[in-house]
Amino acid sequence: MTSYKDLGLVNTREMFKKAVKGGYAIPAYNFNNMEQLQAIIMACVETKSPVILQVSKGARDYANINLLRNMARGATEYAHELGYDIPVVLHLDHGDSFETAKDCIDNGFSSVMIDGSHFPYEENVALTKKVVEYAHKFDVTVEGELGVLAGIEDDVVAEKSTYTQPEEVIDFVSKTGVDSLAISIGTSHGANKFTPAQCTRNADGVLIPPPLRFDILSEIEKQLPGFPIVLHGSSSVPAKFVNMINEHGGHLKDSVGIPEEQLRTAAKSAVCKINIDSDGRLAMTGTIRRVFDENPEYFDPRKYLGPARQALKEMYMEKNISVLGSANQA
Ligand code: G3H
Ligand code: 13P
Ligand code: ZN
Repeated sequence: MTSYKDLGLVNTREMFKKAVKGGYAIPAYNFNNMEQLQAIIMACVETKSPVILQVSKGARDYANINLLRNMARGATEYAHELGYDIPVVLHLDHGDSFETAKDCIDNGFSSVMIDGSHFPYEENVALTKKVVEYAHKFDVTVEGELGVLAGIEDDVVAEKSTYTQPEEVIDFVSKTGVDSLAISIGTSHGANKFTPAQCTRNADGVLIPPPLRFDILSEIEKQLPGFPIVLHGSSSVPAKFVNMINEHGGHLKDSVGIPEEQLRTAAKSAVCKINIDSDGRLAMTGTIRRVFDENPEYFDPRKYLGPARQALKEMYMEKNISVLGSANQA
């Protein structure tokens, strides 16, 4: 058993309290390799932002839990070395079972998500409650989910989203004891969040998606005043990186994300954690494709992973400063 406290990590409790009060959101960036982690820490130290390092079940299998735990310890030491001790959370993203959540808690994670959103309501309550009871013994915080996002959540693929029902949230939170709640208000996972048929085109031909259901969010806020809300599926799918991928041999079609303006609005509300994974994938892939295309003689991974890391860092800094508002909150 490793306590996250020995790794220099914190849970989400204080972080969320401050974020809800301060009207900003904590970035929850997914990682599964060293360059992504370096970029996240560099960006968050440079912008003095708290951060949630997110590991999906797939990432956990890919990278190995012992390595991930020690990478998180290394991340807190790296932040210190860079000159600023930002609060760092190691979080399980979309935990699918009690066993996965327990294994993460036992291995130094300071926060876990248990995603029972695809189960019938009472099953979701029972599973979430079981994880909360175990996690709280070790002062680990828990995120639950109500409502289903379309797209891929690890092995769970939902074709259609189901919005969170505001009339369920008080019952769910009080029965389970969760510390935060992920909701479904129109976001989805991946780079293709909306079909072109769901969008309109602006004068430049850019696809503009329908707005998020802020009416549902404000109804949830009324039911649970001051309670930490989490927004998944919050990549903006920057045209810059989609174009970079397509200009250098890739083929991404109809990629539409959540406009930054809408994320800014969400961050000012009770939404205090915003999950971003796909944008990191796009920035890395676009940059690597460009470097390969322009330098076919390269074969040293540092020559393409280095620029990819730099692109990631710049993108995360920009998000902290002008979208989430988490800069200077550490
Ligand atoms: O919520 C989904 C995340 O983007 C994780 O994706 O399961 O492919 O690592 P992954
Ligand atoms: P994106 O696919 O929009 O980056 O969402 C990531 C996410 O919600 C991880 O849990
Ligand atoms: Zn998610």
